Amino acid sequence: MDDEAAAWSDRGLKRSLRALERPEGAQVVHEGETLHNFGSNDYLGLACDPRVVEAGIAVARQYGWGATASPLVVGWHRPHQDLADALARFERAKAAIVFPSGYAALCGTVAALAGSGDAVYSDQLNHASLIDGARLSHSQVRVYPHADPAALAAMLEADRRRFRRRLIVTDGVFSMDGTLAPLGELADLADRFGAMLLVDEAHGTGVYGPDGRGACSACGVAERVPVRVGTLSKSLGSAGGFVAGSRRLIDWLINHARPFIFSTALPPAVAAAAGEALKILEAQPWRRERVVALGERLRVKLRASGRQIGRSGGPIIPVLIGDAAATLTLAERLRQRGFLAPAIRPPSVPEGTSRLRISVSAAHDAAAVDQLADAVSEEQP
Ligand SMILES: Cc1ncc(COP(=O)(O)O)c(C=O)c1O
Repeated sequence: MDDEAAAWSDRGLKRSLRALERPEGAQVVHEGETLHNFGSNDYLGLACDPRVVEAGIAVARQYGWGATASPLVVGWHRPHQDLADALARFERAKAAIVFPSGYAALCGTVAALAGSGDAVYSDQLNHASLIDGARLSHSQVRVYPHADPAALAAMLEADRRRFRRRLIVTDGVFSMDGTLAPLGELADLADRFGAMLLVDEAHGTGVYGPDGRGACSACGVAERVPVRVGTLSKSLGSAGGFVAGSRRLIDWLINHARPFIFSTALPPAVAAAAGEALKILEAQPWRRERVVALGERLRVKLRASGRQIGRSGGPIIPVLIGDAAATLTLAERLRQRGFLAPAIRPPSVPEGTSRLRISVSAAHDAAAVDQLADAVSEEQP
């Protein structure tokens, strides 16, 4: 282990934890220094919203903190069901359920829907939770080139009649690139080949689509995507994951999704906080508009300075550097200038594509965004 750990470190890949304090809004304090936080997924600025916090506290007073058991035993409480109902309504789905995390929801849903004799078709840049779910499912895993419906079509064609069920899985918004999956084409392929389509809405919910319903809605295919999985931990500022779909799908998951069945339910207070955040998300579209506008503002400035930022849209902006050590150095220089902009390295991204992953929030002010743009533009590499 020591040898491997040393090699890992030599490649600039070692990670360590940083314990942050959190005064308010989009700032954090680390080792006595106040930093602008450009690394969180709190896109709508709801994680510190007093209404969200108070909703959690009120339910904690009534229900206590822990859920005390897994959902099918005695862990599923009224706040969980209220949240599931609210999410189903928001997603315009027949039903929804809530998992302990987005990771658990994705991993557990893939593994519950596909098994031996089935095939999972997975975008090359999918999040680890989809990759791990596919591995756990005991099905044949086919990785298709990133956002390439033609390549996927060829795989589906070659596999005709070889499998019992076929499941196409994709991030809706790719978390390290800020780009949308070609969901219209994927929905067409699912129809054409009789496959199921699962979309991870982790970074779509709250930000994309006319009502913030996510990437599927932004691409006009929400009604054609039978399995929509999301998280409560990003735009909803809380923790937990959810799946929305048909009653048949949700009943299936309640009976077959192992992270749902064999893990203690979320604290009821966490579910209540997420439910409050969902209400705010729906009532305050300005949050979505603001975060999108701030993202665009930063993108324009970074592009003008010659930085490579890919084809991102929305709040996620990758600043592509390539080398892992150089990316770490840049992140550290920015930190010294008062900005937390995390360095993302393999295995989170492919070798040679290390980057800063900047994310903006409705809680940022435009001045901080401009200062960050200047700092990123001035620093090397
Ligand atoms: C694309 C994507 N899917 C799923 C997840 C998992 O969500 P959670 O953090 O709620 O477990 C994440 C979060 O890190 C993510 O970026």
